[in-house]
Amino acid sequence: MSERNISHGVILVLGATSLLGIGVILYGLNRGPVQEESAVVPAAATAAYGQQLLRETTRLLGPEQPDPAMRYSGNGLDCASCHLESGTTPGTLSLLQSASRYPRFSGRDGGEGDLRDRINGCMQRSMNGKPLPRDSVEMIAMESYILGLGQQYNIMSDEKTRAFEPPAFVEPQRKASIDAGKVVYEAKCQVCHGADGLGLKQTADLLDGYVFPPLWGPESYNNGAGMTRVLTAARFIKARMPLGMPDLTDDQAYDVSAYINSQPRPIKAELEVDFPELWRKPVDSPYLPYADPFPQEQHQFGPFQPIRDYYEQLNAE
Ligand code: HEC
Ligand code: HEC
Repeated sequence: MSERNISHGVILVLGATSLLGIGVILYGLNRGPVQEESAVVPAAATAAYGQQLLRETTRLLGPEQPDPAMRYSGNGLDCASCHLESGTTPGTLSLLQSASRYPRFSGRDGGEGDLRDRINGCMQRSMNGKPLPRDSVEMIAMESYILGLGQQYNIMSDEKTRAFEPPAFVEPQRKASIDAGKVVYEAKCQVCHGADGLGLKQTADLLDGYVFPPLWGPESYNNGAGMTRVLTAARFIKARMPLGMPDLTDDQAYDVSAYINSQPRPIKAELEVDFPELWRKPVDSPYLPYADPFPQEQHQFGPFQPIRDYYEQLNAE
């Protein structure tokens, strides 16, 4: 990766965030007095506000939000740190087609959930926060933004819905190597995310969010988040990272995911109640308990095929 590419990336990111800053000021001017909660959809719960919440989650809902009652997310990430361009980039972790996927069954929750439940899933795990009230202005705004994306998707041209990303990640049939992952990290990631993985803040104030988000440490996603699954992280990283120039091999994506997820991060309480039917737990779910005899370490770092084979064998019996 050349220096020129890196600084280009930084300028792009800085450019995008300063535009957003203007948006916040305009939004602040427009918002007017705080509304009472009611069954009627409040006027401020617009899709535009929803998009802003996805882009600037830390500023609007984060731990340093001036109004303590609005502090729902618990770290320095924005939804758009993972759902790139607020979910509008086609492909991995895009939100363009999410509207059509809900309500649906969730093995993790052990029942059917709608889009609001799914948003709160990310709030409590990826954002290490607490659930937004289902009828809050913020929840309805994010939902209407994602519903709007679905409508846009339906009328988009094939060209616009095509994902420009490398071939999908193919899982190596071995245990992931944390040591090899560290080498990848130092060569390909730390220039942006930092040698300590803690990212790069926009300013000293957490309220201003990050230029490069943290991959571990207190301001990153917690140990119950989807990104802690090595296969989920590797799919994302192979498709998207380094940002703007993804070029990792499957082996590199696999190992660097293991390295990131071997680092300390916030702990979510009561993870043992996830997956009431334990056999539904994904093979790479890194936390206890399991319905199989494989050690936790194998669920964290693989190899995963023997675990799948075990469950298939059980089903066949
Ligand atoms: C640390 C990365 C990360 C952050 C930050 C994050 N998410 Fe997610 N999100 C994920 C992952 C991983 C999935 C699961 C994808 C899968 O099921 O394979 C997901 C799934 C979703 C889905 C379901 C998508 C679908 O089509 O099924 C929605 C909706 C969603 N997130 C919204 C949000 C919102 C809103 C926020 C901010 C409040 C947010 N996410 C923050 C990683 C993240
Ligand atoms: C050119 C800078 C740059 C490089 C290099 C880079 N990233 Fe990122 N990464 C970002 C930015 C910026 C985001 C947030 C996306 C956004 O704001 O559009 C991000 C987001 C992420 C996320 C999701 C958010 C979070 O904080 O967990 C992960 C995981 C990630 N990067 C992993 C990696 C890995 C692994 C590498 C090395 C293979 C890497 N990145 C290289 C800039 C970079």
